[in-house]
Amino acid sequence: MKVKKAIIPAAGFGTRNLPITKVVPKEMFPIQGKPAIHYVVEEAIQSGIEEILIIISRSKTSIIDYFDRSIELENFLKERNKSHLIHKIMPPSVHIQYLRQPVANGLGDALLLAEPFINDEPFVVLLPDDIFIDKECDLIQLIETFKQVHSSVVGVKYVEDDLLKNYGVIKENKVKDNLYEILDIVEKPQNHPPSNLAVVGRYVFNPDIFSYLKKVKPDKSGEVQLTAGLKGIIVDKKCFAKEVVGERYDIGTEVGYVKLIERMNINDGK
Ligand code: G1P
Repeated sequence: MKVKKAIIPAAGFGTRNLPITKVVPKEMFPIQGKPAIHYVVEEAIQSGIEEILIIISRSKTSIIDYFDRSIELENFLKERNKSHLIHKIMPPSVHIQYLRQPVANGLGDALLLAEPFINDEPFVVLLPDDIFIDKECDLIQLIETFKQVHSSVVGVKYVEDDLLKNYGVIKENKVKDNLYEILDIVEKPQNHPPSNLAVVGRYVFNPDIFSYLKKVKPDKSGEVQLTAGLKGIIVDKKCFAKEVVGERYDIGTEVGYVKLIERMNINDGK
């Protein structure tokens, strides 16, 4: 079955990046003149996605404006003999819808709001904090794996010990090169992480994830965690992790963002 739908959750407050995120969503942080979320949308398109739902919150209307057409600006560019710039402001060629998460109750809660959009089809989730520089496009590989194993698949990557506390970390059983069955998953382990394989913000789900998310109780901070939904799946059935090969930058951290900018400049020969 073709995987046609994607969810991009972009409703968080970006507390790690305050104060700028008070007015500029981290999804709009510039990377060579384009906002981060544009790269994520391009990755989805490259992977064959036809419909995207972006989950936003009240302070994120700039994301909607960005992907909309600006007829005034197009006309202005035409009038001023700058038509050659119009291609830069055209929206990407994919259907994008938006939904607002009223209360910041976590990633799992945001995804639950998307159930009617998904309408019982398989789908991908792309977390826009994680930007990939990746010629092969790891998401295509994750979708291929999903079709082979007929189970939900999570992208993971080797992460050094000191950074594991920032991610979901799996306990795994190797199936073959780069493919693991998930035996357990711990969200942001403060000590004794079960492995060095951390979730990188790319997932391919069967729609049954929703029934597991509905059973999740909010954590200490009141958030419904996606990781808790994944834990539910693995109790009943199989769920797999695929190790991704592309370079991944976590722009939710200052250091990740700076590294990405440097990397893009090197790419550009600057
Ligand atoms: C989320 C997930 C976590 C995952 C991470 C990837 O955490 O909860 O499991 O490893 O994204 O970036 P967040 O970055 O929203 O705190």
